[in-house]
Amino acid sequence: MHLLLHLIIAFLAFISHEHKSIAQYVPPYTSIVVPVTKHTDAAKPLYSIEIMTAYVNSLYLRANFLIDIDAPFIWHECIVQWNIYPGSCPSNTLCTSPVTCEEFQCTDVRTTYSYDHNPSCPPVTNSSTLPGWGFCTCPVNVIEPITGSCSEALLNYDEFTVSTSNGRNPFTGLYGAYPNAACVNSSSLESFPKNVTGVMAFSSSPYALPAYLFEPLKKSLALCLPSTSNSSAPGVLFVGSGPYYLIPNSNVDVRSLLSYTPLLKHPDSFGYYIGVKAIVINNKPIDITGDFSTKLSTLEPYTILRTDIYNRVIKTFSIFAIEIPLARPVTPFRLCYKTSNYLKFPNIDLSLQDGKKWTIEMANSIKQVTKDVACLAFVDGGATTEQAVVIGTYQFEDNFLVFDLQNSTFGFSSSLLKQKTSCSNFNFTITDGN
Ligand SMILES: *[C@@H]1O[C@H](CO)[C@@H](O)[C@H](O)[C@H]1NC(C)=O
Ligand SMILES: *[C@@H]1O[C@H](CO)[C@@H](O)[C@H](O)[C@H]1NC(C)=O
Ligand SMILES: *[C@@H]1O[C@H](CO)[C@@H](O)[C@H](O)[C@H]1NC(C)=O
Ligand SMILES: *[C@@H]1O[C@H](CO)[C@@H](O)[C@H](O)[C@H]1NC(C)=O
Ligand SMILES: *[C@@H]1O[C@H](CO)[C@@H](O)[C@H](O)[C@H]1NC(C)=O
Repeated sequence: MHLLLHLIIAFLAFISHEHKSIAQYVPPYTSIVVPVTKHTDAAKPLYSIEIMTAYVNSLYLRANFLIDIDAPFIWHECIVQWNIYPGSCPSNTLCTSPVTCEEFQCTDVRTTYSYDHNPSCPPVTNSSTLPGWGFCTCPVNVIEPITGSCSEALLNYDEFTVSTSNGRNPFTGLYGAYPNAACVNSSSLESFPKNVTGVMAFSSSPYALPAYLFEPLKKSLALCLPSTSNSSAPGVLFVGSGPYYLIPNSNVDVRSLLSYTPLLKHPDSFGYYIGVKAIVINNKPIDITGDFSTKLSTLEPYTILRTDIYNRVIKTFSIFAIEIPLARPVTPFRLCYKTSNYLKFPNIDLSLQDGKKWTIEMANSIKQVTKDVACLAFVDGGATTEQAVVIGTYQFEDNFLVFDLQNSTFGFSSSLLKQKTSCSNFNFTITDGN
């Protein structure tokens, strides 16, 4: 069944390729688009996208998946029904088809992915099967992003549906993607935010979502995380090279606001890295000594600095903020102030490898933790962290970020608030673009 499906898809892809060279077919959409929700009900703030998982009883079922730009593949809660032989899926039921341990994807996912190097994971075997199915299934390991514990998952053939867009509105026209994704027992999702049932991989892995999208969706991911968890003001995520628009600036393609820096290759990781040479506080640089490749993370809530860098940042920042009275530190932060007024805080910039500058506005450097205590929103990662710097999501909120996988560059806007807009300003009114 799934083999046939894949042949059809491969055939369609072939046709659309041929078609393009003859007729230069230009579809009405330039990207796919999904809303982004900020969740504050788990152990740390996390962000999810909403996708359509199945068409059952004339309705699309919707589910929320955490955004993970580092994950090697997609995984989510197992559904109850398996589609293990033709006709075994009752009509109007969401079913999934398992991958066998004999198929190339199984070995590929098991040998190329970073989860498997985790010491907390047991070795995988080929010995499991499903009731009524004569084949071996493909168990793989996944690392649960909140607790870091390892769970066993089964690799399957999946189907996800999302809206297409011209960068201004979502269209009524939908786009289907058919990735291999793994599924876990719901007990592995207990630490997740409420109503979030999976992890959507947006890394450079061949098993992450962008790799499954066909032309003309250029392999480019645009991410705009909201600063509010108000569900009526979601952020936005696109896959596709743009344009992108945010209200009220209907004439401004957000790409015109971006600066670009190279994405750096990193062995053994499908994640994204950029070169940060220094953290600059009121024009005083704190150089990153050693390897300056900096990881970008959608699972870490605050930028993590190796202890020696963290100490120098705290010291320099506090010298420039000497007039503001200190408050007792509030975990996980060490430098807190008695204030609700950000005017006197020093500026922070990241000085990048190629001379570019990423300005971290106050909205992204200072976090108001109570009505009158504000903290420097960076954390100490310990003396021997793998990366000197890992940039986390508080520093991404209301910044427009583009991961261009084709050209291996990273685009960033700095705070959109300065442009009088925000990540919560995509116009999600559906229009008939076709
Ligand atoms: C859970 O999320 C789905 C998808 O966004 C949504 O349709 C549903 O209403 C949510 N359920 C609850 C109880 O919030
Ligand atoms: C599982 O089966 C595949 C295909 O036969 C084989 O390549 C792989 O080595 C096996 N893995 C294990 C852990 O036995
Ligand atoms: C899911 O996990 C729970 C608790 O570990 C276990 O009792 C249950 O049998 C598991 N369900 C399946 C379908 O594996
Ligand atoms: C990569 O760069 C080329 C040339 O500048 C551009 O035409 C193309 O759109 C870029 N790719 C993406 C995904 O933006
Ligand atoms: C959002 O899009 C709809 C459909 O194009 C349009 O009618 C509406 O004016 C837009 N809203 C704003 C605030 O621009």
